[in-house]
Amino acid sequence: MNTVVNNKKEIRIGLLGCGFMGKVHSHAYRTIKHKYNELGFVPKLYAIAGLGRKSTASAAAQYSFEKWTTDWKEIVHDPNVDVIDICLPEDMHEQVCIESLKANKHVFCEKPLALSVQSCKRIMEIAKNKNVKKMCGFNYRFLPAIRFAKEIIDSGLIGKIYYIGANYSQESGHDPERPADQIRYINGKEPLGTIRGLGSHLIDTVRYLCGDIYSVNAIVKTMIPNRPLTKGGNFSVSADDIAILNIELKDGGIGTLMTSAVATGRKNQLAFEINGSSGSLSFNLENLNVLSVYIEENCPKSLRGFSKINVTEDSHPLTKHWWPPAHIIGWESGHINELYYFLDSVYGDKRISPIGATFIDGYFTALVAESAFKSTKLEKKIYLDY
Ligand SMILES: NC(=O)c1ccc[n+]([C@@H]2O[C@H](COP(=O)([O-])OP(=O)(O)OC[C@H]3O[C@@H](n4cnc5c(N)ncnc54)[C@H](O)[C@@H]3O)[C@@H](O)[C@H]2O)c1
Repeated sequence: MNTVVNNKKEIRIGLLGCGFMGKVHSHAYRTIKHKYNELGFVPKLYAIAGLGRKSTASAAAQYSFEKWTTDWKEIVHDPNVDVIDICLPEDMHEQVCIESLKANKHVFCEKPLALSVQSCKRIMEIAKNKNVKKMCGFNYRFLPAIRFAKEIIDSGLIGKIYYIGANYSQESGHDPERPADQIRYINGKEPLGTIRGLGSHLIDTVRYLCGDIYSVNAIVKTMIPNRPLTKGGNFSVSADDIAILNIELKDGGIGTLMTSAVATGRKNQLAFEINGSSGSLSFNLENLNVLSVYIEENCPKSLRGFSKINVTEDSHPLTKHWWPPAHIIGWESGHINELYYFLDSVYGDKRISPIGATFIDGYFTALVAESAFKSTKLEKKIYLDY
């Protein structure tokens, strides 16, 4: 990070993966300098890796990367690279995280950190001795409405948390005729399923807002166990497509979490309602600029109930770099805020936690997911062993 351009330090990004998240992250890096004009650094889209020469070259040109390769190790070991950003399939995260840390790079890894608790532990074992920044891609922490919910809870305005009901629902798997090889959570050497995929976001959001989870009692199921394949034949599905987790929070509250890829009609809903002793909060990603809030204190009886707050005022978190009030933002803004936060931590040697998700948060998420599988198998409540 020694090159200085227009009095700003260049942070050179090595982006691994040029699919969905590769596109979202490169867009975020390009937008950061547009939104945050007082930056002391400038993100440099240095190198990108993908599978297939043609598609990787085309992504490099489209997203304005200086270099491209089909060998991710080349980027990890390139001395010019400051930051490795992992947007690769989940089953590659462990190997790539470990190799990047060993090469002393700052590492941003998309969720889930890894597919198992053991895998997360192996990453953390290397990470603990490396004086670099490590962050896990739980982008929903960086939406203004969710950050505002966190501030309200931390200020004590809704009191003691009694209950959180939360779900992450999509319909990507609801059609039994949809071929297995076209459905992301079913594919791969070790299929992701909904708890480790959508559920990792959900679990992190619950932990971020309400604190650690103490126990899990779950039902994890596969509603559609057989599917056709595009080229003909049948596929036996092992990945879960729906799950319910009854949880106890360390602070005494309880909750119900649901993940589903068979939520017919639902495109991408991450929603929660939190009921506290003196107020409640409610959020739905499908209307992401709004947080519904009820604070009991001093509220006249006739006005009791939820108010919809448009979280776009200067007084709201994460809004000052965006538009004037009520000029709403979109889903990608969370990624822009998140990657700005990560690069600013790299530049200023600032802490990732408690605002950003660390690798330890990635590990806890995997622990809750694994406990849900264990609970289903043993048909009993699992107490989390931190
Ligand atoms: N935070 C979010 O909102 C969010 C949303 C979707 C996915 N994700 C996560 O992001 C990660 C990537 O998901 P995606 O949807 O972008 O996947 P994707 O399939 O769209 O892209 C994966 C990319 O990895 C590349 N790749 C695969 N194997 C490679 C190899 N050996 N060498 C180099 N490149 C290789 C592919 O070419 C492709 O460009 C996953 O961990 C996923 O769970 C996060």
